[in-house]
Amino acid sequence: DLGEYEHYMLKEIFEQPTTIENAMRGRLNYDEATAIFGGLNLSSQQLRQIDRIVLTACGTSWHAALVGEYLIEEFARIPVEVEYASELRYRNPPMSDQTMVFAITQSGETADTLAAMKECKRKGHTTMAICNVVGSTIAREADGGIYLHAGPEIGVASTKAFTSQVTVLTLLALYLGRMRHLSYSAGQNIIRKLKDIPKQVEKALECHEAVKTIAEKYASMNNFLYLGRLYNFPVALEGALKLKEISYIHAEGYPAAEMKHGPIALVDEQTPSVFIVPRCGIYPKVISNLQEVKARKGPVIAIACEGDDRVAELADDVIYVPDVDECLQPLVASIPLQLLAYHIAILRDCNVDRPRNLAKSVTVE
Ligand code: M6R
Repeated sequence: DLGEYEHYMLKEIFEQPTTIENAMRGRLNYDEATAIFGGLNLSSQQLRQIDRIVLTACGTSWHAALVGEYLIEEFARIPVEVEYASELRYRNPPMSDQTMVFAITQSGETADTLAAMKECKRKGHTTMAICNVVGSTIAREADGGIYLHAGPEIGVASTKAFTSQVTVLTLLALYLGRMRHLSYSAGQNIIRKLKDIPKQVEKALECHEAVKTIAEKYASMNNFLYLGRLYNFPVALEGALKLKEISYIHAEGYPAAEMKHGPIALVDEQTPSVFIVPRCGIYPKVISNLQEVKARKGPVIAIACEGDDRVAELADDVIYVPDVDECLQPLVASIPLQLLAYHIAILRDCNVDRPRNLAKSVTVE
């Protein structure tokens, strides 16, 4: 079952070119420059009326939701809120009649996500599930939804489900966008780039050996910071969560520019910062955030685009990933972070597939 791999987590990391492809299979319509979903069970008129979207989830799925917020707001100009399901179930936020709720969940069994979804449904909102496990409770309770088709995820640390969630949310943003402000050519452009992503993720996986070497250098450290901006801010949160849950190292994800408002006080020679610095509109700003950390003697591991020599001069270690469109960066940038967490955990002799205190699906409150 594990094939050539030692652990499910590693196997699932390497499955991602295929699982991302599967999340897109049959869902791209190049001629109409949009996405197609079979299971939303709503007419385009009904979808056109949505004036607000709430994405609710826990853990890694909540991080995917944050990427979804950026994507949907950018492509479709629909306001999006991302809510921790455990909070939403007991909160009573004002929600307009035309607010649609998406519960995002790998397992489809997370108790808080189910309860939040049910509460929204009771108030009369249309609820959708973005879910991996077919026929799971949340998939059945929702009015409609989108399956990830990622196959079973065994490792407790979610990897392939995350990238599949982000892929599906990209398609959803494209679909909603094309009903509103996104032009035909902009839609086609996104589809072209999406089709190329499995290949780019395959290339990103080539960093495996480099990451292994870097892991050896940092495995004994006890505090890490993960920093990114815009689409890569949720990636930073996700990178930190991966490290925490499988290697039991304290790690915090932050928007890189927020550092100067507090967390920079943590920086010292023993606190590495993992910076996600792909080429993007605010590249120089992220570089200056990186320099602020270096000036305080903090070791820096940078995730950068191939050929970025500037970062190589500044950072202690660089992991290169392919250069893809800004909105698709989370799909490639999360690969080295998953691998880094995996190798550090192995070096610290941790049980990567079954980390302590955690369950694959959290069916209690
Ligand atoms: O099955 P779900 O996506 O609803 O699970 C949500 C979280 O429990 C889950 O993502 C958890 O944070 C993972 N262990 C993260 O790797």
